[in-house]
Amino acid sequence: MLSIGKSPGKLYLAGEYAVVETGFPAVIASVNQYVTVTVTESENGGTIQSKNLNKELIHWDRQGTDLVFDDTESQLAYILTAIKFVEKYALEKHKKLAYYDLLVTSELDSHDGKKFGLGSSAAVTVAVVKALGSFYGLNLSKMDVYKLASIAHLSVQGNGSLGDIAASAFGGIIAYRSPDRNWVFNMVRNHSLSKLLKLDWPNLRIEPLHLPKELEMVVGWTGSPASTSILVDRIALTKAQKVDKYQHFLKSSRQSVEQLIQGFRDNDAKMIKQMISSYRQVLTDLARFSDVHIETKMLTKLCDIAESLGGAAKTSGAGGGDCGIVISNKNLNIENLKSEWKKVGITPLQLKIGDIIDHA
Ligand code: PMV
Ligand code: MG
Repeated sequence: MLSIGKSPGKLYLAGEYAVVETGFPAVIASVNQYVTVTVTESENGGTIQSKNLNKELIHWDRQGTDLVFDDTESQLAYILTAIKFVEKYALEKHKKLAYYDLLVTSELDSHDGKKFGLGSSAAVTVAVVKALGSFYGLNLSKMDVYKLASIAHLSVQGNGSLGDIAASAFGGIIAYRSPDRNWVFNMVRNHSLSKLLKLDWPNLRIEPLHLPKELEMVVGWTGSPASTSILVDRIALTKAQKVDKYQHFLKSSRQSVEQLIQGFRDNDAKMIKQMISSYRQVLTDLARFSDVHIETKMLTKLCDIAESLGGAAKTSGAGGGDCGIVISNKNLNIENLKSEWKKVGITPLQLKIGDIIDHA
């Protein structure tokens, strides 16, 4: 028996950093590149195989005189934890556990193993949940997949919004509001997974959105990988020290993102472009008072070139490297944009918005 789970990578369109706070909104696009997990029943003894496992890049940061490592990027931790929770749920459903070979293949990294920052750990977690969910016949809905993958992801990486999990589980473009993760943590400790899957999670909201037909997304890659977890921790430090400025950031973020979401609902291309540019400014302000480099020199070039040609551009996600996104009218000269990017060392990625997932 062979079971397959496929899930897309993602890019933040707006709301990054603020979305880490319970209930704050973000807009996230899935992309048309995927992680695929296959699970094949085996006799007695199982294997886990992934090309990425051997050449992982480990980020480190300095805290005083100590080096701290970011081990939240280790794919194996996500795979093993996803397996653990799906099997716990399978046992609750009185399924018999089996042996299997699990294989991960990914289109989310470059051929030489570099990370584009498309959320591979989230996509891997979702794909494992889907593949094993189907292997054990668990009939998981998209929301079930989101919840199980979130529980697994939370227990490996404590500080994320889980927006990347939502984008991977639902596909398309979503408006996302993060659930109260302390509540989730406590519930996991004291209740069954079946109960957690049935309950509405406080503050969580996922709403599908559609890009107006006249718009498209263009993505450029800076070539330098960034660690989301380390950047989020640095912003958390600012939060404690610059309370007023941080609250002001949250307020401006919510204003822009709510207007962006309304722009999507109204199919208002102008509003969408305006709010993408406005969120670039929101992030620039956050970067300034927190002294965290979100828009690196390369990302500034990427955005400025795109803006000068008429697109709305910004960093995507935590920034500090990885990708920048452009939302533009389809009549923008994309070839011109790409050649200007290449001149300054930015790689255009052949990415489109991912399909909406119709069933898990
Ligand atoms: O850099 P990315 O694509 O992994 O996005 C991170 C987005 C943050 O809001 C900064 C963190 C999070 O968990 O939402
Ligand atoms: Mg990133």
